[in-house]
Amino acid sequence: MRVPPAILKTSLAGCELPSPIILAAGTCGYLDELEVALDLSRIGGVTTKSITPEPRDGNAPMRVLDVKGGMINAVGLANMGVDRFVETKRNAIDGVPTTVLGSIAGFSIDDYVRVATAFEALEGMPIVEMNVSCPNCDNGRLASSSPESLHEHVAEVRSVLKTTRLFVKLPPSSDALVALAAAAIDAGADGLTLTNTLEVMSIDVRTRRSRLGRPRKGMSGPGIHPLAVRLVNDVYRQVARDAGIPIIGLGGVLDWRDAAEMILAGATAVGVGTGLFVDPSSPRRINKGLARWVRSQGCSSIHELVGAFEE
Ligand SMILES: Cc1cc2nc3c(=O)[nH]c(=O)nc-3n(C[C@H](O)[C@H](O)[C@H](O)COP(=O)(O)O)c2cc1C
Repeated sequence: MRVPPAILKTSLAGCELPSPIILAAGTCGYLDELEVALDLSRIGGVTTKSITPEPRDGNAPMRVLDVKGGMINAVGLANMGVDRFVETKRNAIDGVPTTVLGSIAGFSIDDYVRVATAFEALEGMPIVEMNVSCPNCDNGRLASSSPESLHEHVAEVRSVLKTTRLFVKLPPSSDALVALAAAAIDAGADGLTLTNTLEVMSIDVRTRRSRLGRPRKGMSGPGIHPLAVRLVNDVYRQVARDAGIPIIGLGGVLDWRDAAEMILAGATAVGVGTGLFVDPSSPRRINKGLARWVRSQGCSSIHELVGAFEE
């Protein structure tokens, strides 16, 4: 096992991580599937695919599309459901050589509470990430449809998590994001994840129909990176910094410069999603480049650079 340079160590809501790099929900399988390409002990954490109470097939194919500036997906929360997840992954969770963030999704407060309760009982996942921002299924964003709705959902989930930290993963909606972030924090979130995919359309001009199974779906990758950086900075400056709430920044991070931008904008940790489809071992290169960058900035810890962007 090789650990990243100590200069990259960070702390996420009291959870010590050897590196700020976290594999994003839904882009690295259920748990440890990327182990064949990447030494997981060298990253900060791995996020599970979003798990719902019942198994879901997700949307009909085609579900993934390569586009200019990234990719579009309409996976639609395909997963084995919480009971089977707990049954089949319990042992594997303990064996993963990094922090596991358990992603939960649902379509009602009861759904979120049911999965959160099961994850809390598992004990191997110190962080639960509440996905309230899936654009790829009907009602995937119901919980974040207003600050009031989000407050109610987060407070209920918070009440069943005794030892597990709660992160809330928000959609990239420029107008409502700060109000949603404030509501999540007020309801007891320990951290925020920004952001999920951007809701987009792509039309097949020959058939005049959607190029994927659903008319509206989620865009990720380099094309959304500048927007994600801005949103992280908005939330950091306007609510998270003063509340002492850490942000996992993600959206189009392909290399160490993208990750460094997220850190400067205010992210404590940085998610990589689409970048794993381009090169599943990219977090190794990102770690190396980040460590060099921190030294070149005259800092002894990456933490000194969180939110260090100057206007
Ligand atoms: C194929 C695919 C599946 C995804 N599945 C999930 C998921 O299950 N839960 C979730 O919270 N986000 C999911 N996401 C969103 C990513 O975690 C991430 O928020 C988004 O892709 C932006 O980051 P990126 O540009 O680095 O990919 C998925 C993204 C992709 C591309």
